[in-house]
Amino acid sequence: MTSSLTGELKWWQSGIIYQIYPRSFQDDSGDGVGDLRGITRRLPYVASLGVKAVWLSPIFRSPMRDFGYDVADYCDIDPLFGTLEDFDAFVAEAHRLDLKVMLDYVPNHSSSDHAWFQEALTGKGSAKRDWYVWRDPAEGGGLPNNWKSFFGGPAWTLDEASGQYYLHQFLPSQPDLNWRNPAVREAMFDALRFWMRRGVDGFRVDVIWLLAEDDRYLDEPENPDWQPGQPEHWSLLHPYTQDQPETHEYIREMRAVLDEFDDRMMVGEIYLPVEQLLPYSGTEDARMVHLPFNFHLILMPWQAQEVRRFADSYDAASLAAGAWPNWVLGNHDQHRFRSRLGDAQYRVAQTLLLTLRGTPTVYYGDEIGMHDVEIPADRIVDPAALQQPDSPEAGRDPERTPMQWDASVNAGFSAQGTTPWLPLADDFATLNVAAQEGDPASDLNYFRALTRLRQEHPALIGGTYRSVDAPDDVFAFIRQDDSGTLTVLLNFGAQTHDLGDLARGQTLLSSLGDQPASGAALRPNEARILRG
Ligand code: GLC
Repeated sequence: MTSSLTGELKWWQSGIIYQIYPRSFQDDSGDGVGDLRGITRRLPYVASLGVKAVWLSPIFRSPMRDFGYDVADYCDIDPLFGTLEDFDAFVAEAHRLDLKVMLDYVPNHSSSDHAWFQEALTGKGSAKRDWYVWRDPAEGGGLPNNWKSFFGGPAWTLDEASGQYYLHQFLPSQPDLNWRNPAVREAMFDALRFWMRRGVDGFRVDVIWLLAEDDRYLDEPENPDWQPGQPEHWSLLHPYTQDQPETHEYIREMRAVLDEFDDRMMVGEIYLPVEQLLPYSGTEDARMVHLPFNFHLILMPWQAQEVRRFADSYDAASLAAGAWPNWVLGNHDQHRFRSRLGDAQYRVAQTLLLTLRGTPTVYYGDEIGMHDVEIPADRIVDPAALQQPDSPEAGRDPERTPMQWDASVNAGFSAQGTTPWLPLADDFATLNVAAQEGDPASDLNYFRALTRLRQEHPALIGGTYRSVDAPDDVFAFIRQDDSGTLTVLLNFGAQTHDLGDLARGQTLLSSLGDQPASGAALRPNEARILRG
């Protein structure tokens, strides 16, 4: 089947999603933390990248103990980021620029500051008590079971006043909402409606695979593969706290709420193997999320044949499941891919992300090649790092540093005289948007060349995918539809490879910046896209 599908695709299938971490994009209020007005001012830059949708990490009212993933009011903007009026102006400007707006919806837990939890704390008889998950101490006292928090330590905290424990899969200040309670679901669905009425086009749904827990509250088994030094949460397997049948039901209900409106979408944060991931798309009769995030490029070894095997099986499984595929290289919880994979592979990875079949999600700054920033001990703010000093990998500050706009003080992120909430990269004077704008050979312009190519050659968007045999270090695949056939050649290694007929055709783009002749050998760390 090689018909030209691209015209029939929805925006979330043909377009690219661009994630902004609002604290770090643009600070216009001068407090060292990014804000909505700053983001709005920078939207023409975002549009210039050739992306289709902007996803903002949480901007709702929050005490910011987990930097907004602890929501104290689902229907208001935190003053740190601005006001509802600022938000409306942001949506209007995005839509004027033909960009869709996606918010981060955090349904698994609220902040302990939320009025619902405060009311629940007033006692066992409180009307909101059952909006959270409470358990009596184990027989003989102590924690109800062995469940652990993602940030280390037990997933239970004692409420001394009532003698009961409440569940939190993250910080104690992030109590889990009780999704088994229909009133909770209704209230949470109303929050979705609130934002959709304000013009929001879609949602990224935080830890959607954790919504429900098994209500037998059994201990989770130990993970035999866990090594000391790895985050404590990995020391258990999670058959009772993740991917429960009830979660699937609640997501079907959530989808029905989105379908009350025209052309909205949701992408779910789900860290699961493909066979458990794809069912989150639902079936034709009972749809679930539009896109279940596929994080496997982040998690698998960076080796051409491994990536090929994965892409082949994921593509085939997506087709069989009637699910639209998607790809991710980075986000605010993962080290920057330039740092993970190394400078030499940076453009190979970027090319892969933007040419595989499926919706790409791009993390802010990755288009200019931002890398992790080493955070001095006294500047660490991420609770995942502060709570787990023995697991240095757990810290997420390195990938959340301010956007590097230009060579001025604070990289143009924040005015002179302010201290950005996280330190800037020490090479921002050379690695920044302004320096790269004017340089045709820059990473930024390479990114734009890739997004332009997607527009000019719809086979890259809606065409079929088929990998082809190549030497071990090379991943080669073909994208094809009625409008044409493109070959993507990716050299994951440092050897030159003569690929014979496979390299025949007109070079549309090479990561090395030149236009190799038809049939020319693939050079070390080269990504090349050919027509023919
Ligand atoms: C998700 C978010 C992460 C947050 C956690 C708790 O994994 O991406 O940043 O800390 O959920 O809400």
